[in-house]
Amino acid sequence: MAEYTIKVRRFQPESGEGPYWEEFNVDLEPSLAVLDGLLQAKDNEDGSLAVRCSCRAAICGSCGMKINGQSGLGCKTQIGEAQELANKKASASGEKVENAPIVIEPMGNMPVVKDLVTDMESTHWTKIRRVTPWLLPHGEAPEREYIVEPESMLDITQSMACIQCGACVSSCLSMEADPDFIGPAALAKAYRFVGDPRDGETHERLHDLADDPHGIYDCTHCFSCIDACPKDVAPMDQIMRLRRKAGEEGIEDPNAGHAHEMAFVKIIEKKGTLDEAMLVQESYAPGIKGKLKPSKRGIRETIKSLPTILRPLRKRKVKLRQAIPGTHHKLPGDAMKDVQAVYAHAEEHNEEFNLYIKGEEGELIDENVEKGIQRSTDPDTAPEVKGG
Ligand code: SF4
Ligand code: SF4
Ligand code: FES
Repeated sequence: MAEYTIKVRRFQPESGEGPYWEEFNVDLEPSLAVLDGLLQAKDNEDGSLAVRCSCRAAICGSCGMKINGQSGLGCKTQIGEAQELANKKASASGEKVENAPIVIEPMGNMPVVKDLVTDMESTHWTKIRRVTPWLLPHGEAPEREYIVEPESMLDITQSMACIQCGACVSSCLSMEADPDFIGPAALAKAYRFVGDPRDGETHERLHDLADDPHGIYDCTHCFSCIDACPKDVAPMDQIMRLRRKAGEEGIEDPNAGHAHEMAFVKIIEKKGTLDEAMLVQESYAPGIKGKLKPSKRGIRETIKSLPTILRPLRKRKVKLRQAIPGTHHKLPGDAMKDVQAVYAHAEEHNEEFNLYIKGEEGELIDENVEKGIQRSTDPDTAPEVKGG
């Protein structure tokens, strides 16, 4: 047993007062969960402490919260580990701190109902409904059920592992800046249907998500949702899969998000590092050998981006030479060869990486395919191979 101090951000709407912090001391084994600490405080000290939970086994998705600033599940985070992180953070200024309070807050990007209970309806569930989270099969319905090969469902098993806890939504940096962003959980759910071989509206779904200015191209690729997700759904990876499929379908988006990604790939392949001055030109008017191929949109967007270029120039954060497209130097010979080798490798090994399909060698993939099929008996991640 060890003693821990948990510092909880509380909000009791009936009091008419704003949020405040309260500390509780709890006695627990380090291997027990932060949620156990909260429930002990609720039992022993203050029954009004509101926390949502049910399974206490990382299955129901009820106990999303922020622990030491990191979004996750209260029932899956060991209190001993939370203590280590709290100490590490408190010691960041140099002086070693022990037994720092473990800071617990409600999830972010959602209104708080009471203490650690957030309103999942207004953000999370509304966005989940936005992506039409059900199958839209075409053609005659089979007499009994849709039968598909288990292997054809492997691609979506990762997104099917979601328990709708909202931790990724809580941690999403894009959502902080743009609350209308569809968000990591809903987009991971969208991939679950885009990748389903039984669905008949793949193109329409992709078009909808690419055309929405708050859709797949609103993600800034910050990895925060991957860190937060307790079930390894890796929502950002699902968003990248949606983008790749939208690109393959030739879907244009209003923000030129796909063209922007292609511009990154092309510039780095050519120069080894990113020539930012080329980005707008390449995104809106992809040129040949660095020469501008003007289009109305390219010229319009270049003019629009001038203030963004002028600001760092004025503050001398960027030299004039760096702002001129095409003047960025290439990496020296050997380093360029390494970059080109990476590109060649990626081209040759164009395989998906997810929780259930890993590695590059045939054997390893076969082994994981087998594991994936075996996992179908696990209700938590079971590929739904029948039904509509
Ligand atoms: S990677 Fe994208 S979806 Fe995930 S948290 Fe960052 S901005 Fe949000
Ligand atoms: S993707 Fe992960 S973090 Fe997001 S709601 Fe699903 S399980 Fe939770
Ligand atoms: S209580 Fe069910 S996921 Fe934590």
